[in-house]
Amino acid sequence: MSKAGGIRIGVVGLGTVGQGVWKHLRARQPELELHMGGKFVLARAAVRHLDKKRSVRIPAKALTDDPMSIACDPEIDILCELMGGTREALAVTKAALKAGKTVVTANKALLCEHGEELFALARQNGAHIYFEASVAGGIPIIKALREGLVVNHFPLIYGILNGTCNYILTRMEREGQSFEAILEDARKLGYVEADESLDLDGWDAAHKAVIIAYLAHGKWIPLKKMPVEGIRDVTLEDIQWAQRLGFKIKLLALILRDFKNGHVFASVQPALVPGDMVLGNVDGVFNAISVTGDIVGESVYIGRGAGQDATASAVISDIIDAGTTISHGIRPEEPLNCADLKLAKPEDVYRSFYVRLSVKDRPGVLAEVAGILAEEGISIESVLQRPNGGQGLANLVLTTHVCTEAAMAAAVARLKRHKSLNRKPFLLRIADFAQRLG
Ligand code: HSE
Repeated sequence: MSKAGGIRIGVVGLGTVGQGVWKHLRARQPELELHMGGKFVLARAAVRHLDKKRSVRIPAKALTDDPMSIACDPEIDILCELMGGTREALAVTKAALKAGKTVVTANKALLCEHGEELFALARQNGAHIYFEASVAGGIPIIKALREGLVVNHFPLIYGILNGTCNYILTRMEREGQSFEAILEDARKLGYVEADESLDLDGWDAAHKAVIIAYLAHGKWIPLKKMPVEGIRDVTLEDIQWAQRLGFKIKLLALILRDFKNGHVFASVQPALVPGDMVLGNVDGVFNAISVTGDIVGESVYIGRGAGQDATASAVISDIIDAGTTISHGIRPEEPLNCADLKLAKPEDVYRSFYVRLSVKDRPGVLAEVAGILAEEGISIESVLQRPNGGQGLANLVLTTHVCTEAAMAAAVARLKRHKSLNRKPFLLRIADFAQRLG
């Protein structure tokens, strides 16, 4: 049953993505209406500057510089929140949900920080939140987890969720240039977020991992409880060591669930990915996600994680779903029951590691390092060594067999105090996925 006059859409935030959404909705309106099963109207848009030049033509009477007026407009059915940031976006989203409107959002930071509150508010008001564009842009991972894989439990999900970091790491590897040199290019190409830390320190990927973890396991994992590291400390030398060992370095989000012990674990950290694994060959700005379902097995999704058209594609898919849902009067789904689900502790998480040490090049040092690792129950898998700058120093790279995060943390604490180390140890996890929660 379609709404008389059509479903009315208000877009809040008409930047690059907003203009893409408007453009593609207009261009494909007749076929999209067939999918939706009813008419829709691009009714209103909120912008920051009313007289700014835009790539889409919007009647002046449809424009406002007051987003709240759209959130509170009783004529609007779907509020499409594309303004970014969390303060104003939170107020606008809450107002729309309180008014019973369906919200479509691409705002991962908003969901990560306020998702629990927003989804509860949506349920109280019989409203829906759609958020396909918040994770991995054009890859329909939300739909895959929520619909296509609905029968599965997910012991393992991992992914490359930040295109900017993947671009930088790929070019460092291919061209042998430093992080700083490639970062400068990425800035010029407009790939890096205005707040660079979001990309480079792993926070953008962490926001996305939190949303995936919620979908897969029903639990909002607090960011401060997640190990989150970026790529600033990954050197060209690490990339070259990794290549020698048969790996690529990728910024990897990891979500592990142990169904037996009721643990969940999520992290974002640079990791060594085997060169023969699919994700080891996902390069440049592309994103990729591997999902292991207990019934379906592994499936891998690759695509553009950002950009006007990829993100608009995801937003429009949500708008069409939202329109169908509104027309059929479907109630919001209940969250998964995660009451007994605990966050895994470092002693529950098993990984294998790459450890780079800068040490004094003198007899016995390697044996001392190996001794510390052995005392913490860590077994070495391989050792590489290279002189470091002729100063009587050497770079030592070890890879380990699987051990717990807790054991490695204890070993690192001891190594940091060791007189033969002239810098703190640098660790990378190895994505061989022999590890599990225990
Ligand atoms: N800054 C993000 C990335 C794009 O580089 O992947 C938006 O999520």
